[in-house]
Amino acid sequence: MAHIKFDSSKLDKFVHDNELGEMQAMVTAADSELRKGTGAGSDFRDWLTLPTDFDKDEFARIKAAAKKIQGDSKVLVVIGIGGSYLGAKMAVDFLHDTFFNYLPDDQREFPQVFFAGNSLSPSYVYDLLNLIGDRDFSVNVISKSGTTTEPSIAFRIFKERLIEKYGLDGANQRIYATTDKQRGALREEAIANGYETFVIPDGVGGRYSVLSPVGLLPIAVSGASIDDLMQGAADAQTAYTDENLANNEAYQYAALRNILYRKGYTTELLENYEPNMQYLAEWWKQLMGESEGKDEKGIYPSSANFSTDLHSLGQYIQEGLRNLMETVVVVDKPNHDMDIPSEKDNLDGLKYLEGHTMSFANTKAFEGVTLAHTDGNVPNMSIHIPDQTPYTLGYLIYFFEVAVAVSGYLNGINPFNQPGVEAYKKNMFALLGKPGFEELGKELNQRL
Ligand code: PA5
Repeated sequence: MAHIKFDSSKLDKFVHDNELGEMQAMVTAADSELRKGTGAGSDFRDWLTLPTDFDKDEFARIKAAAKKIQGDSKVLVVIGIGGSYLGAKMAVDFLHDTFFNYLPDDQREFPQVFFAGNSLSPSYVYDLLNLIGDRDFSVNVISKSGTTTEPSIAFRIFKERLIEKYGLDGANQRIYATTDKQRGALREEAIANGYETFVIPDGVGGRYSVLSPVGLLPIAVSGASIDDLMQGAADAQTAYTDENLANNEAYQYAALRNILYRKGYTTELLENYEPNMQYLAEWWKQLMGESEGKDEKGIYPSSANFSTDLHSLGQYIQEGLRNLMETVVVVDKPNHDMDIPSEKDNLDGLKYLEGHTMSFANTKAFEGVTLAHTDGNVPNMSIHIPDQTPYTLGYLIYFFEVAVAVSGYLNGINPFNQPGVEAYKKNMFALLGKPGFEELGKELNQRL
């Protein structure tokens, strides 16, 4: 039995009984493209077996590096953008208490983990340096290409601070580079300076890389079990291999969102009822958006955080343009529950909730919203996860990865490339005056 539960029982009104079954032939073809490597982008399928087929020596080095950082640093700065940061950020948030980074040093077992190089905001970098102050810190710089502008600039600045604080040799021992095995400026710099390095496997694209050293080192530094994370993913790898839709909930999700897309539901909202799952949606948006948004088609991935956004986006979801579908990730057992206190008087009118817990109220909100949105013609799917443990997260990551790969093939695109991301990078290089981009720079400047 699957560890997480995909629930499509509220789709009756939107998808007829026969429709899912009729997708079987297409799903079988998509499964074959994925598993046999006959589909587009087949060189980038190594994430499929990553949970079981990974470099065990490197895994041990990741744990050792995490231990060293935990011992000598109060802060880990993780520098990367897109697929080189979202998975780690999502996991650190998901796996720890909501205010993980806010706990003061004397109350914490593990370093704070902050992310940089995911924007070009100078204020952000300034503020982070300020927050670190004179405390000990280390840097994990992550870039497959080694040339992405945002992380490269941030890395220069944090490296400069490390050198000021620890001297060149000391700084080099606090820099951990996660990059391509052979190519790229970061690889060259790491070799020249003797940084400890970890490899982003060739056949794993950025958005599928959270279970590689890209995600594993920051997650391990935060104190979460990467053994359990990988075990959850490995069990999901076994659970989601059946091409038969009736037995494969990840494929059901892929097929149903495609059925809905073809009926005009072109935007999917990933929703949650736990604030520390906000970045699950950010990671998911990259996974879905970069995988599926091409050839002028694809489901637009968006998100909402409930019950917060019921008081902002809720009106639109209930009654706005009817192109929305929603997928809710529901935690069946929250990390903590709180009783709703009793009071002698009933001045706030809440007496009817006495004897209940907050999670009871959260669950009733989810149930009420699901029915209201369904009545408002928003197709609703949900994914029930039992808890917020590393095992469950590994399982969930794999569920989404395998689902989007099949979903992309169902929609006739290559789910593993990202030509659109490269287009913007090239333009930015040209406008910044990078050598080699002079001609493009001239052309773009004329158009501006
Ligand atoms: O998924 C992708 O390929 C992108 O989002 C990249 O991860 C992102 O652009 C960062 O690239 P790099 O790791 O080469 O710095």
